[in-house]
Amino acid sequence: MDAFYHGEINEFVDWHDTDGNVINASDGGIIFACGKYHWYGMAFRELGMANGPHGGQMTDTGVVMYESDDLLNWKYEGVILDVSSDPESPLFAPMRFERPKIIYNERTHQFVLWCHYVKYPGNHGKGVGDCDMGLAVCDKVNGKYKWLGFTKPIDEHGFVRDMTVYKDFDKSAYLIYDRHVENESVGCDRCLHVVKLSDDYLSFTSTYKKIESAKFREAPAVAYKDGYYYIFTSGLTGWQTNQARAFRTRHLLDEWEDIGDPCVDDTTHTTFNTQSSNVFKIEGTDTQILMLERHNTASFLHSSYVWLPIEFSDDNTVSIRYKKEIKPY
Ligand code: GAL
Repeated sequence: MDAFYHGEINEFVDWHDTDGNVINASDGGIIFACGKYHWYGMAFRELGMANGPHGGQMTDTGVVMYESDDLLNWKYEGVILDVSSDPESPLFAPMRFERPKIIYNERTHQFVLWCHYVKYPGNHGKGVGDCDMGLAVCDKVNGKYKWLGFTKPIDEHGFVRDMTVYKDFDKSAYLIYDRHVENESVGCDRCLHVVKLSDDYLSFTSTYKKIESAKFREAPAVAYKDGYYYIFTSGLTGWQTNQARAFRTRHLLDEWEDIGDPCVDDTTHTTFNTQSSNVFKIEGTDTQILMLERHNTASFLHSSYVWLPIEFSDDNTVSIRYKKEIKPY
């Protein structure tokens, strides 16, 4: 392709890899390593939405990766985190490695992948393995990642929902996740939290911040510019799209300010019929791209990718404008 082609906001557009196959890397991210962009995500099934083992929103493949020099031509690199055909395995498919995110640890020379893990049959729940963080590592960006298991940040009482990880300038890294707590005293409390990871990125520290301004938000994606961190989020309507809201702060573990819907001329108030997933930077430029996804509940394989540049203003606000097509350079 020669541009990020998005079509109309009610359109589903397939992007193809260099073999001509539909690119299928849901809600992942892009990491620049070894001189190339590596785009990864969970491979959906071709099916529509359904609970139980028949939903297209699960995977029976795993996390896959594509590589590119120019962000336009993507070569399939294969499955980097496999599911299992063994019913005894925690990775028995269909299951979910939802919203996988990879960061590189300079101390240990490992690529660390965190995801929202949901065991077979891949339905979100409240039991062990239905609402957890999954962890896998590899010594190569595009090698086979080794599954290290699943866990929960902060304590056992918070269910894990949508998440992302963010690596800061000082190499400290953070998990940002939708923590879902349900009990008699709070009723249902869902709120984004920032949790500092350990130095090797393989566990959580006890340092965290509840983002009180970001209640009932999910799909977090983090950007940084001129002293401010921004989180793009969606509301909680499952696969149905809804209005975006962004938050900003000067320090990741401080208060976050709600700065409203960043989408300009979004008359349908649906984030242009998409949901946020990640932010990446175009190497050698100042451009940061917000990766969004238009989930297709009729056939998840044909969900589409919408990559829009983030416009940062002098008053430290952010704007996103829809374009049917964006040329990255
Ligand atoms: C979305 C969420 C997705 C997935 C879905 C399930 O809102 O962002 O990651 O969990 O709900 O219904």
